[in-house]
Amino acid sequence: MKKIIISNLKMNTVPSDMKSYSMQLATKTAGSKNRIIVCMPFTHFHTAKQFLDGSKIEIGAQNVSDEEAGKNTGEISASMLKDSGVSYVIVGHSERRSKFKETDRLINKKLKMALSQGLKVILCVGEDRVTRENKGACQFVKKQLDDVLKGIYENELESVIIAYEPIWAIGTGKTATLKDIEKMVGLIRKEIAYLYNDKTQISVVYGGSIDIKNYKKIISLPCLDGALVGGASLDVDNFSVIARENY
Ligand code: PGA
Repeated sequence: MKKIIISNLKMNTVPSDMKSYSMQLATKTAGSKNRIIVCMPFTHFHTAKQFLDGSKIEIGAQNVSDEEAGKNTGEISASMLKDSGVSYVIVGHSERRSKFKETDRLINKKLKMALSQGLKVILCVGEDRVTRENKGACQFVKKQLDDVLKGIYENELESVIIAYEPIWAIGTGKTATLKDIEKMVGLIRKEIAYLYNDKTQISVVYGGSIDIKNYKKIISLPCLDGALVGGASLDVDNFSVIARENY
């Protein structure tokens, strides 16, 4: 089955690393059926584009401004990303929610801005540990979806991939169980059917401590369209194995 395999380099690597990373990834995943996306810092686009050209690997950003242009020193707009050859952007990552105080309202604005400029969006949702322990995870994720998808039309969902990333699983070496993933992905699809209609198609991927040992059984889950891989994507050999697998 064809899957979507996304790497999130976060604030790791430097631009000059992208020559070797891109060339190796392109060579090692040539012929793979999967859709492969590398989400990288803004500074890396130029080099990555140069060495990914001719491969089917797509470039993603990790953040975007909610505003179109103007007096926003230090911000990067959706049209700048588009013009730099970027196809995807991550919106709502838990690290941005917690460290940079991004709210569902802001994430909703960023989502709208990115879609309006023709970018595809990897939209992250997921609960923290306390919420899960208090059995509030389903309600929490449902509310996140309701709030971030406000005003988004059904046809725009073709350009959205929902990433279920339980916060307690990110960078901790502890993934959610297969049962928990299946349950939450089922709930996400149900909520989309409720907000739109039963026939609405949506891609859902899982992220949180996927590595070279556990990737196969998680990504092979029929309910999942793929995975968002953070730490393990820094090693291009490991990420290539995950990205070229036949699921
Ligand atoms: P991780 O990160 O794979 O290192 O847990 C996932 C992510 O948030 O991108």
